[in-house]
Amino acid sequence: MTTPTFPDPTLSLADPAGEIERLARRIEQAEAEVAALRAERDRALNAIATLRNETFFDLARSAERNDGESPLHTARIGIYTSLIATELGYPEDQCALLESAAQLHDIGKIGIHSSILSKPGPLTTAEWKMMREHPRIGASIIGDSEVPLLRLAAEIAMTHHEHFNGIGYPLGLAGEAIPLAGRIVGLADFFDALTHDRSYRKALPVDQVLSMISERRGEQFDPRVVDAFMRIFEQIEEVREQLVEQEAFGEAAEWDGPWWMLY
Ligand SMILES: [Fe+2]
Ligand SMILES: [Fe+2]
Repeated sequence: MTTPTFPDPTLSLADPAGEIERLARRIEQAEAEVAALRAERDRALNAIATLRNETFFDLARSAERNDGESPLHTARIGIYTSLIATELGYPEDQCALLESAAQLHDIGKIGIHSSILSKPGPLTTAEWKMMREHPRIGASIIGDSEVPLLRLAAEIAMTHHEHFNGIGYPLGLAGEAIPLAGRIVGLADFFDALTHDRSYRKALPVDQVLSMISERRGEQFDPRVVDAFMRIFEQIEEVREQLVEQEAFGEAAEWDGPWWMLY
């Protein structure tokens, strides 16, 4: 784009109408060039944002894997969260945002040493203390963003271990002071973690986990969230079974590359 100079040396006062038309065309051309530059800038910003989000999702998945979670744990939490939110009357666009943001809930585990995450036995008090830092670490990794997805993800990362009765961590919030997104993800994460194997224990039967959730209604979990979860449990179970099957199929698939690539 050329920068106009004033007064324009090529300005012809002999033909003012023609000159006005010529100037109007130049303005139009300049506006088109500005619009093209803006579109190019927006494309570049979108590409950076997509790359940044993918990095967050990769980090969250690898943090969960270090903690012995199965590869589809984050995807399951996202879907359960969005199903519960739909049942609670969240608008569709909010549910979609929650489905993505919930997947970053445990991103802070990336800051916890793997000797703690993959310890086969129970943790010591000091190790628990470190483990309980993962919500703060997660929120600080995601940062103080203006982007709605990341703002929600940071809120969930910080509050998904708060208990409705106020004895959770790290802030000790109670009741409605815990953001609803954190209350929903807390329940989804509890259900999913307990219905899958971990390094230090086997998966519990689904019925047992449901009883544990009912026992904790109004204590660890928001009664409204528990009721919504129970109402749509058939859908939750359908998703769980589908994803477990998909995971088992992925892991059982035979390695079809050359044998030496395994070493
Ligand atoms: Fe967590
Ligand atoms: Fe998790």
